[in-house]
This record gives sequence, C-alpha cells and structure tokens, in this order.
Amino acid sequence: MRKQLKIAERVPSYNKQLAEIGHELNNFLTVIQTNIELIDRYIAAKEYGRAECKIKDVINGLNSINRFVEGLMEPGQHKCSKTRNNVGQIVSRIIRFLKPQKKFNGIIIRSQIDNNLPDVYVNSSQIEQIILNLMSNAADAVHESGDSSGLITVKVCYNKRLGSIEISVADSGCGITNENKNRMFKERFTTKNSGHGLGLVACRGLIENHNGRFQIESEIGSGTTITVSVPIC
Ligand SMILES: Nc1ncnc2c1ncn2[C@@H]1O[C@H](COP(=O)(O)OP(=O)(O)OP(=O)(O)O)[C@@H](O)[C@H]1O
Ligand SMILES: [Mg+2]
Repeated sequence: MRKQLKIAERVPSYNKQLAEIGHELNNFLTVIQTNIELIDRYIAAKEYGRAECKIKDVINGLNSINRFVEGLMEPGQHKCSKTRNNVGQIVSRIIRFLKPQKKFNGIIIRSQIDNNLPDVYVNSSQIEQIILNLMSNAADAVHESGDSSGLITVKVCYNKRLGSIEISVADSGCGITNENKNRMFKERFTTKNSGHGLGLVACRGLIENHNGRFQIESEIGSGTTITVSVPIC
C-alpha cells in the first residue's frame, strides 16, 4: 500500500518531466523545420551558398538535440556535464539558428557580444535552451504588444566585479505585471492561448544547474529584460 502511494506521488513529477522534455524537443524541432523550409527555398532559387549555410545550421540544431538527449541519459542528470566554452559563441550560434523562425518575422534582433569573454564551464545545450526559451518569449511579447517594429536585443558580457558572464535578452514587448513577475520562474503558468507555461520553469532548473541567477526588469507597455548570470567558477 505504502509502495503504491509512493508511485502515485511520483506520477505528477514524472508527467511534469515528460512535459518539459517534450517542450524542449519541440522548441528545437520547430526551428529545424523552419531552417529546412529555407533550404528548399534557396535551392529552388539556385542560391546554393545560402542553402549550404542553412544545412550547417540544421546539422548544428541536430547536434543540439543530440546533446540534449545525451544529457537526459546521464546517470546523475542533475549534475549536467560541462565543458569549457565561450558563451558568446554559443549565443551567436543559437541566434543565427533561431532568426528564420516565423515568429521573428518583422522583429529586429540585435546582438552585442563582448569580444574578450573568458571561457566558462557550461553545458552548451542547456545554455542554448535558455536562450531559445527567453527569445521565444521575447518574440511573443513583441507580437502581443502589437508593435510592428519590435526589437529584441541580446547581450553577453563579462562582469569582472561579480566574476560572472551575463546574458540578457531585452524586448520591446508588452511587459509583465508585478504579480506575474513573481510567478513566472516558480510555477507553471501561461497567459498565452497556445502556451504551456513550461519554458521558464525549465529555464530555472537549467540556470540552477549552472549555479546561476536570473533577474527580471519589466515595465508594462515598454518591455522586459531578463538577465541570466553564470559564475565563472
Ligand atoms: N519577455 C516576456 N514578456 C512578457 N511576458 C513574458 C515574457 N517572458 C515570459 N512572460 C510571461 O511568463 C509566462 C510564462 O512563460 P513560459 O515561457 O514559462 O511559458 P509560455 O511562454 O506561456 O509557454 P511555453 O511553455 O510554450 O513556453 C508567459 O505566458 C508570459 O505571460
Ligand atoms: Mg515560453
């Protein structure tokens, strides 16, 4: 009886984990699909150089899925494996991969990445997932605001005083109420018709895996900046 109860207690958390895995895989697959559609278009237009670039992006995307799935199969999943990386390069790669997605149509994406970033031990697939979720939310917020000239600015810099790499995603979107600001990383909730409320809950776990922190600044009608800090050691 006690054993049955224990299993029953685990079911919701198991379902939650499955939902989060599905959400992250779906994120990657949606972008890969867009990139493949572009390859098709470039080949039809005989723009083979551009098609070749997109093929590389698709391969990078598949590698990301590979790393993500490998991470799931690690024995101590929560201690994610980390390698020395330049976070700026990870961020540039994921932005290039994301840009063609339909949800970024009409949105200007700017990136400001410091040239002299120190390397840091991170799980590159998890850093990609964080950026993907933050940028996806930023695009949704811009569309929600109805602004036809939306802007998303992604910055990566080294905060020498705090000894951390800071990644920020700023949007000119609808902004977030104080009440929702307090909820968004803590619990599963969504204000979107087709949202699942999973992106930021997943991000929180990934940031914690890196002993990192997040900070939210937002103003209704002006936009939101979410900054993730990852300590260097
Ligand atoms: N940049 C942002 N601007 C405005 N609201 C935001 C922003 N980022 C997150 N939010 C709010 O936080 C909620 C939760 O975000 P989260 O990414 O967890 O889920 P979602 O985007 O609704 O659904 P999904 O599971 O598909 O990501 C959003 O529904 C939205 O209300
Ligand atoms: Mg989201």
